Amino acid sequence: MKITVLTLFPEIFPGPLGVSLIGKALQKGLYTLQVQDLKSFAIQGRVDAPPCGGGGGMLLSAEVLDAALSPLPQSATWIYPSPRGKAFSQEKAQEWSQKEQLIFLCGRYEGVDARILEKYPFSEVSLGDYVLMGGEGAALAMIEASVRLLPGVVGDPTSLLEDSFAETPAPLLEHPQYASPVCWEERDVPSILLSGNHGAIDQWKRKQACALTRRRRPDLWNRYVAHRLSTLSESED
Ligand code: ADE
Repeated sequence: MKITVLTLFPEIFPGPLGVSLIGKALQKGLYTLQVQDLKSFAIQGRVDAPPCGGGGGMLLSAEVLDAALSPLPQSATWIYPSPRGKAFSQEKAQEWSQKEQLIFLCGRYEGVDARILEKYPFSEVSLGDYVLMGGEGAALAMIEASVRLLPGVVGDPTSLLEDSFAETPAPLLEHPQYASPVCWEERDVPSILLSGNHGAIDQWKRKQACALTRRRRPDLWNRYVAHRLSTLSESED
């Protein structure tokens, strides 16, 4: 997979993408990260312009962005991280992990001239209902979530199957996990996990995942219940 990032602050990258397993994946060439400095496309020393009709702040100008974007392939997946976008999700990460090339345009200031989002096939995607200083933090999170799903990045791929949100279309939060010592500060590891009975352990994990999801994320829980009911009724048809 090839990832291209356009940013006014290339020094932010690779940042967290350069360390640990995800950094090794970059070193091993499991994906490539090309970071382009939007400042190198400045026109008469400027990359921004004030918004027409007033309002505070500045916009990245269409001409500058066009110069940076026009050489890039239309066939890639074009992403503009923005709080106005559709919510990013594990499902999106799974979809993007199958793509040949991802292009991230990182906005700064008040964002970008809207005509750029019309001319190029961008999807606007949001990290959540809050506003960051720019798109770079969001792009880093979206890249990390997508790249960790590439074959060879995570040592034991079965661990991905138990992640929160791993099961689509009706995911659960992941069950709690424990390691040795089995008794720590008078707190015991649940005895079932020491029983060696894998069927019972799997059942316990699912029950815990259900209870946690129900308590913390009623939105996900309702989706899970509705999905279970629909698959049950399909299997009866
Ligand atoms: N840029 C600024 N805020 C953002 C957000 N919440 N998600 C994605 N990109 C952003």
